[in-house]
Amino acid sequence: FDIQAFQQDLIRWFKDEQRILPWRENQDPYRVWVSEIMLQQTKVDTVIPYFNHFMEKFPDPESLATADEQEVLKAWEGLGYYSRARNLQTAVREVVEEYGGVVPHDPKELGDLKGVGPYTKGAILSIAYDTPEPAVDGNVMRVLSRILHVEDDIAKPKTRKVFEELVRGVISTEDPSSFNQGMMELGALVCTPKTPSCMLCPVQEHCRAFNEGIETTLPVKSSK
Ligand code: ADE
Repeated sequence: FDIQAFQQDLIRWFKDEQRILPWRENQDPYRVWVSEIMLQQTKVDTVIPYFNHFMEKFPDPESLATADEQEVLKAWEGLGYYSRARNLQTAVREVVEEYGGVVPHDPKELGDLKGVGPYTKGAILSIAYDTPEPAVDGNVMRVLSRILHVEDDIAKPKTRKVFEELVRGVISTEDPSSFNQGMMELGALVCTPKTPSCMLCPVQEHCRAFNEGIETTLPVKSSK
């Protein structure tokens, strides 16, 4: 497995083919944070107008920290999972009070914020701060399970850590932001759950599942 060629093919494809999305306009960690929270249980097309409105109303950590909770919930109305919004405001208030409004670079400090789990932490550190940290969600597990032919059951809570270690072994240290976003984008556009478009895949030659003809059998996901 040629890690460097894989990284290069993925990053080149991401730079050329990525969707234009509002949270990709810049690397502002607050924008990345809000977008990743919104995207956790909600589709990209639904999130876009909510994200734009939210950023107009609460453009920075200070404005969100000082807002009334009811105003925040109103801006979230229709997205559902309202604890996401409440936790986000709680965490942003802590960032303003404890860190002067700067989203922590430190993985421990970042991960201790309310509602910031391993995925969100890795997404912020890699996308906003160019740090080579894994950002593993279900899409990334699907993509990597195929590329590396991993048969671990992705329904098991312990499996995410297995994939985080695998990502640590293949992530680009040169451009971790494009690498992680490339994995997400590949999962959204090409390496889809039921009928992946392997003929259009930029990393087809690096994919064990494609080369073994078993791409539709991965990932393994128990129904329990
Ligand atoms: N899904 C989760 N994070 C995403 C991102 N940053 N861009 C597009 N889709 C995503």
